Amino acid sequence: MDFKELGRTSVKVPAIGIGTWEMGGGISRDTTGDKEAIRAIRKAIELGMTLIDTAEMYAAGHAEELVGEAIKRFRREQLFIVSKVAPHNLHYDDVIRAAEESLERLQTNWLDLYLIHHPNPEIPVKETIAAMEKLVERNLVRFIGVSNFDVSQMEAATRCLSKNEIVVNQVEYNLLARSIERDVLPYCVRHRVTVMAHMPLARGGLPRNKFLQEIGKKYEKTAAQVALNWLIAKEQVIAIPKAVNLDHLEQNAGAVGWQLSKDDMEHISSHFR
Ligand SMILES: NC(=O)c1ccc[n+]([C@@H]2O[C@H](COP(=O)([O-])OP(=O)(O)OC[C@H]3O[C@@H](n4cnc5c(N)ncnc54)[C@H](OP(=O)(O)O)[C@@H]3O)[C@@H](O)[C@H]2O)c1
Repeated sequence: MDFKELGRTSVKVPAIGIGTWEMGGGISRDTTGDKEAIRAIRKAIELGMTLIDTAEMYAAGHAEELVGEAIKRFRREQLFIVSKVAPHNLHYDDVIRAAEESLERLQTNWLDLYLIHHPNPEIPVKETIAAMEKLVERNLVRFIGVSNFDVSQMEAATRCLSKNEIVVNQVEYNLLARSIERDVLPYCVRHRVTVMAHMPLARGGLPRNKFLQEIGKKYEKTAAQVALNWLIAKEQVIAIPKAVNLDHLEQNAGAVGWQLSKDDMEHISSHFR
């Protein structure tokens, strides 16, 4: 696995982690795929994708329960667990309670990273940030960050911080969705905030792309591996593809350890522009 610095913390995180949206259900709990999901998370860890992204909203908490079950057999320090507080839980007491409940479902004593899942203009971000900093002070959370924030929302959140930094903005980023290149990505590079690319495979659309398949042939890589390699070649960017299929997991772990040529990087960028 390749590692990148998390924000400017000097902590290293894997360039490719694993997402858990749709594990254990969608917006509600569905236990029919539990076995496959647990097997997938364990396999991801064994392959070096030790950064696991989840959220209280996923499968109404059941995704976190599955992560909790999957990680039991691993040394906790070896893992980097990310969860998110839902936008309706951004009042101070709600943030604290939501984090405690996530920890319980994850059966762990701390979250490596806790994110505000979406901005909520109805609730002052100052209140939310104060609660997140309290969680750090109580050692329940190591680092804090945001998700789906634009530049002005990131600036507003940053102004409310007293002791910590926003180390991550988790945003949609893939070859078919590149709007963050206009301002969010340059802002994050300038301020050394890690961009955690969600939907990095465009929900499975990119692995079927003929152009990427063709480029991949040169490197003996799949279209998915090319799409992920293109992302993580960028400064400050890491990716969290979700996969339950074991072949997909192997492929995603193999998106690192090699590099697209400069020409191919440019060719891909202009093809999808
Ligand atoms: N913060 C937010 O608002 C937000 C929003 C969306 C997502 N996320 C996070 O980001 C993660 C990733 O996003 P996502 O799950 O929406 O989409 P994604 O990772 O772009 O795509 C997942 C889909 O791609 C398939 N896939 C994975 N690897 C593949 C491969 N090598 N070849 C072919 N198909 C492959 C998966 O199939 P199988 O499962 O069958 O293997 C699944 O259907 C989520 O799970 C979640 O943790 C966060």
